[in-house]
Amino acid sequence: MSILFAFFVYQVGAVLAGRTDDLIPYLDSLQFRNGPSFVFANQSFGWQQFCVLYSEPENVSTIRYGWDSLGLRSYMFQNPGDRKKQRSPPLGMRSAVPLGGLGTGSFELRGDGSIHEWTIENQTPAGSAKLNNVALDLAVFGVRVQSGASSTALLMRTHPPKGYPGVASMGYSGSYPVSKLTIRDKRFGDVKLDLFAFSSLKPRDSNTSATPAIAFTLRLNNPTRRSIQVSFMLNLPLGIQTDTARLGKPNKSFKMNKSDPTLCSRACVSDPECLSWQMEIQNKTCLLFNEVPLHSWHPGIISGQKNTWTAHDSMLTLNRPGNYPQSGNTTIATDKGNSPSFMVSDSFGQIWKQFSKHGYLLSRAKSFGGGFHGAASVSVTVRPGEDKTLTIVLGWFYPNRDFTAEIVGNYYSNIFKSSEEAALHLSRDLASTVQAISAWHSSMILNNKRNSVQTLPAWLQDVLVNGLSFWRTGLYLSDGRWRQFEALDCIDVDSVHNDFQREIPYVLFYPDLVKNVMRAWAKYQSKDGHIVETLAAGCYSPTRKIDSGPPNQRIMGDVTTVFIVETYHIYLWTNDSQFLKDMWPLVVKAVDWMIYEGTQGTGLPYKQQCTYDQLSLHIYDHNIFNSFLYVLALRAAQELCNIMDDQNLWKEVTTAMEFAKYRISEELWSEKDGFYHAWWDKQRASPSWLMSDSLYAQVWAYTLGLGHLDEPSRIRSHLMKELEINDTPYGLRVMATDHPTNKSVGSCPKDISTTELNKHVAIYESIWIGSSPDWTALQIHLGFDPQKALLQAKKAIDHVRSELNDQWNFHGLYSGTGYGLDGLPWCTSHYTFHMVLWHIPFALSGQFLLGAKCHTFI
Ligand SMILES: *[C@@H]1O[C@H](CO)[C@@H](O)[C@H](O)[C@H]1NC(C)=O
Ligand SMILES: *[C@@H]1O[C@H](CO)[C@@H](O)[C@H](O)[C@H]1NC(C)=O
Ligand SMILES: *[C@@H]1O[C@H](CO)[C@@H](O)[C@H](O)[C@H]1NC(C)=O
Ligand SMILES: *[C@@H]1O[C@H](CO)[C@@H](O)[C@H](O)[C@H]1NC(C)=O
Ligand SMILES: *[C@@H]1O[C@H](CO)[C@@H](O)[C@H](O)[C@H]1NC(C)=O
Ligand SMILES: *[C@@H]1O[C@H](CO)[C@@H](O)[C@H](O)[C@H]1NC(C)=O
Ligand SMILES: *[C@@H]1O[C@H](CO)[C@@H](O)[C@H](O)[C@H]1NC(C)=O
Ligand SMILES: *[C@@H]1O[C@H](CO)[C@@H](O)[C@H](O)[C@H]1NC(C)=O
Ligand SMILES: *[C@@H]1O[C@H](CO)[C@@H](O)[C@H](O)[C@H]1NC(C)=O
Repeated sequence: MSILFAFFVYQVGAVLAGRTDDLIPYLDSLQFRNGPSFVFANQSFGWQQFCVLYSEPENVSTIRYGWDSLGLRSYMFQNPGDRKKQRSPPLGMRSAVPLGGLGTGSFELRGDGSIHEWTIENQTPAGSAKLNNVALDLAVFGVRVQSGASSTALLMRTHPPKGYPGVASMGYSGSYPVSKLTIRDKRFGDVKLDLFAFSSLKPRDSNTSATPAIAFTLRLNNPTRRSIQVSFMLNLPLGIQTDTARLGKPNKSFKMNKSDPTLCSRACVSDPECLSWQMEIQNKTCLLFNEVPLHSWHPGIISGQKNTWTAHDSMLTLNRPGNYPQSGNTTIATDKGNSPSFMVSDSFGQIWKQFSKHGYLLSRAKSFGGGFHGAASVSVTVRPGEDKTLTIVLGWFYPNRDFTAEIVGNYYSNIFKSSEEAALHLSRDLASTVQAISAWHSSMILNNKRNSVQTLPAWLQDVLVNGLSFWRTGLYLSDGRWRQFEALDCIDVDSVHNDFQREIPYVLFYPDLVKNVMRAWAKYQSKDGHIVETLAAGCYSPTRKIDSGPPNQRIMGDVTTVFIVETYHIYLWTNDSQFLKDMWPLVVKAVDWMIYEGTQGTGLPYKQQCTYDQLSLHIYDHNIFNSFLYVLALRAAQELCNIMDDQNLWKEVTTAMEFAKYRISEELWSEKDGFYHAWWDKQRASPSWLMSDSLYAQVWAYTLGLGHLDEPSRIRSHLMKELEINDTPYGLRVMATDHPTNKSVGSCPKDISTTELNKHVAIYESIWIGSSPDWTALQIHLGFDPQKALLQAKKAIDHVRSELNDQWNFHGLYSGTGYGLDGLPWCTSHYTFHMVLWHIPFALSGQFLLGAKCHTFI
């Protein structure tokens, strides 16, 4: 019953004893399918603006609101503005692996060593804004190498904060949840320095995976003839947030003589009631709050929270009092064998001076009181020819996760009671953490040397592994609920159709989490049997309450259908009969709604929206995308009826399915055109519009072993027409209409507005990132040459991975050709539609992976 392909079962190689002090073999066996991509200090990066429908900005100035900017976006380029030299920056600059556990928040350590997208203190579109890189500019790693009497100390930043020395170059590679930075600088001589950053992620173990901690391990190799002393430090500027405002009513407000944040923060320290402060640079006003209001980006404002730093037992902890979302603690844990030392100061200059001169900080154990910066340093002697590691673990504990003013808490507070516990937990056995990651990777990153079979192409292996960074938008609440935003710039929570696109890795790796969401959808099923689109709707609007569910959500062709298919999928792959038993009555109601209300007796879903909502297909009676989903759902329902032994429903479903197929054949299939038309309408008939991804449902039917939903000859013909008519250099454009799009309308912002551009051109010309991988999966199932079929998915996916160099920020839509934005992101950041590429290995496994010995069924 349960078919799980064995190439997703970990190929645990030679298992070494899990000794913490011997991390090196584990680090060295980590595999990357990208990089190292080098960033040089002399390269120039900056922002270039162009037009988008909406996307997630770097700087977020709102609270409890989707992180969206409309119309124009800033995107990072190398040599921006220079027409000849402007290009995508190296991999790791636009985006990088989000580090952090499942639902714990995360941040990215980018290719230049800077830190971005900080959400570990409960920053989400339901609360405070993410911190921007200006607020984190002094969150830095430093390294100092001493050989004899000479020493070099540099920040691991190619473009360091003003006044500090950085390295000449760093090479970035990422395999979620690991980032690796290879440091290159002549001043370190031949000493090799690689920084690994990783968090704990273990498939099918959502507890371990929810550890709020990240390890930073500096891997050292000394090929010289002399012993060297290497020191490694991390500074956390968590006592001060530059360009960050606290959005609340102050209790006290006064003018200062100087616009110096230390004066304002000290005023807060000496006021027993004060919990946070804010300095407005321009008018030198200091505000004190008796609470900790939510924060967001605001240039010209510096703010912070009351805090204390304490060092003991080789750990430095920042504690922020109160019961607010940003109250809690952050710990840097070190290994006592590496001579840890600590320092706290309002001036990072003081800390850097001490570290760069001596290679250690001032204290081993101390209650420091308040301070803007807390730093930890460790060091080790590396003898000639020796390899060593130095590790610093960052742990955090912010139990009061908020969701639109309600405290929903963090799951990890069931497991840990402080950031110290979290950091120590990860520190305790780094080797097995890395080993678990490697084992997980090896189910996707196939080792060509070891497996002498044809394997997945490298780009696909890379995107399978790194695509898992989509979990960054998930929330794991203290009561065990797992929830995920559609995207941070469009904040629907668990919209059924979006979750469907990212479902495969959930069912493979964290089936408990996806079942949790299914049960929530079930809970909000409407009286009439249809499933509501999302657990909390929202886009372009304030964030709603969590699990606010109905009413008044859109009726969609890929929601109730998907609920039925997903029930079957989860049961099929987990063999959880209790789950099926619980869902069954809801499935029966859903099937009933789908067949009767949903079609209005027309035999196919009637005037319903779908995930391709911008195309407004719901204005027509029937559309092809929903029609095939309907057939898929009926087909899955047939199987469920067999399992549940419900013959009456089976008959009903079978009749509906035959009728639906007949209607598709009569209304939507065009023998003359050789493809399915995008829609049919009683009044407007059915023009020769061709929609890419019309046959998404068929992709699922094949993955679930449900066979052809229509005649394979038609499916083949349709796919060839998608390629012939809709293809672009960036993938399949979403729709070809019966009259060509007028691309000469211009390009915004110069010529026309974004809305106009979308209306006239982009709505049909843009590339929705799921179409091409779906096309590939279908063609492989249909016996097309897999190498050739893969080219289509590669075109769309690898464009993002190795041309835009932005694979940790896949967008939902990219611009098509001919209107001035060719291949640039068009709409919705940190999106997960590309996760449909998980169907490809399933398609391929039928083709040739199953021939290999290591791949069997369980
Ligand atoms: C930048 O630095 C790298 C290595 O240090 C060097 O190879 C390259 O030529 C430099 N480029 C420019 C434009 O100076
Ligand atoms: C974000 O804000 C910072 C100032 O806090 C500014 O330097 C940076 O250019 C802004 N980034 C973008 C993409 O606008
Ligand atoms: C000042 O703080 C107290 C809590 O300590 C709060 O109840 C009160 O509303 C605040 N006053 C103002 C003016 O915001
Ligand atoms: C501001 O300066 C005046 C005059 O130098 C001094 O008396 C006063 O104490 C200062 N105030 C603060 C808040 O430092
Ligand atoms: C200082 O400027 C801010 C705007 O940046 C304003 O809201 C505030 O009222 C000003 N404070 C004083 C005391 O002028
Ligand atoms: C860490 O934060 C939690 C929650 O605010 C608090 O209960 C705990 O005492 C703090 N622990 C330390 C060591 O500061
Ligand atoms: C996960 O952690 C919770 C809280 O400590 C515990 O109750 C539960 O049994 C754990 N689950 C597993 C599978 O270990
Ligand atoms: C599936 O679960 C049933 C019990 O519900 C069990 O009898 C059966 O062996 C399981 N099948 C597999 C393949 O694990
Ligand atoms: C295309 O749009 C441009 C600009 O709006 C207009 O001048 C031109 O006539 C249009 N061409 C067609 C064929 O509609």
